Amino acid sequence: MGKQLVPEEPALVEEPATPSASADLAFVREHLVHRHLQYTPVPSWPGHQGALKQEARRRGLQVRDLDKASYFYDGGRCVGGTVGLISTLAGYSAVRGARSKAFTKDVLSRAGLPVPKGRHFRAKQLETAVAWWSEQVAEGALGDVVVKPTDGNAGRGVSVEVRTEEQLRTAWAKARGESTAKQVIVEQQVTGVDTRVYVVGDRAVAAAVRVPPHVLGDGARSLAELAEEYEQARTVHRYLSSRPTVVDAELLTRRGFALDDVPAPGEVVFLNGTANVSQGGLTVDVTEDLHPDLLELAVRAADAFPDLGAAGVDLLVPNLSTPEGASVIEINTSANLSINQVPGYGRPRDVAAALVEEMIRRR
Ligand SMILES: Nc1ncnc2c1ncn2[C@@H]1O[C@H](COP(=O)(O)OP(=O)(O)O)[C@@H](O)[C@H]1O
Ligand SMILES: [Mg+2]
Repeated sequence: MGKQLVPEEPALVEEPATPSASADLAFVREHLVHRHLQYTPVPSWPGHQGALKQEARRRGLQVRDLDKASYFYDGGRCVGGTVGLISTLAGYSAVRGARSKAFTKDVLSRAGLPVPKGRHFRAKQLETAVAWWSEQVAEGALGDVVVKPTDGNAGRGVSVEVRTEEQLRTAWAKARGESTAKQVIVEQQVTGVDTRVYVVGDRAVAAAVRVPPHVLGDGARSLAELAEEYEQARTVHRYLSSRPTVVDAELLTRRGFALDDVPAPGEVVFLNGTANVSQGGLTVDVTEDLHPDLLELAVRAADAFPDLGAAGVDLLVPNLSTPEGASVIEINTSANLSINQVPGYGRPRDVAAALVEEMIRRR
């Protein structure tokens, strides 16, 4: 059996692997520890498109499928639909525009909304980027930076905690490799929990925080046993359990943990560094916990695009109860409503109903 770990000084506070490890830990302690693994059961789940089709039928609309799309009809009149995850509420220019994080940041900052400070460069401008970065750091205008492709998704090509020139060059190569547009963003790393606000029309209909998978020590069972329990508990939730949890052994090692260690009672240990559901992450409804100005920020962000009637707006929020320090990280025009509609913890929010209602209202 491994060594007993000390609860007062979790290793991840000392060495966060994501910029938000300490914010995530604070969130888990405040919002999840008292209800650890008490998921809101979801015995069956049709997925994003399935939920929209169900809702359309419930309202007496007829559903017609075309390849990966579904369209909803009121008699002879098509009222809306969804092409995979992209709803007819999102116009083509918004979908195209939001695909570029650099363009999105420009649109948002012109609208007076907070985005991480930084610049974007063409892939061949590495030396320009290094020179700019060095100057900014020397002036104390930039701290740790995040380097990412302007057109990535699912966290691919994103590097965090970049603080040396060598790290910048390595991160650049990684970002560049994932960028079809061959553009790289270098921006200030901001702290906070990953918060997805689903905006429909001029309303924020739901907000959920995403946190990486984690276990809670009991002083008796090993990390491996607790990870097994974590995986087992997810089976009550058909959306969360659709993909297995990725245990990042390398990250655990870096944080000083071995799988046979026995975490102390109450100690939180993250199993990996990403909050994506596809990697085992958790979703937590915070619609009522989020400060109204943060909901408003998300609405204004979606509204900055003239033809964006529905979107998932991603914020990094240091403190749910104040807009202070929050930034808009990206706008997702193909946001999976499952994140908000069937959260792991907390109250389900009927995003599908809001979307179909908005389609009907607009027609
Ligand atoms: N400026 C930043 N500061 C801190 N964390 C960031 C920043 N940009 C991105 N991240 C982290 O990286 C993740 C992925 O970045 P994001 O811009 O959302 O790209 P993707 O389209 O791949 O999801 C975010 O969810 C966040 O955790
Ligand atoms: Mg993202």
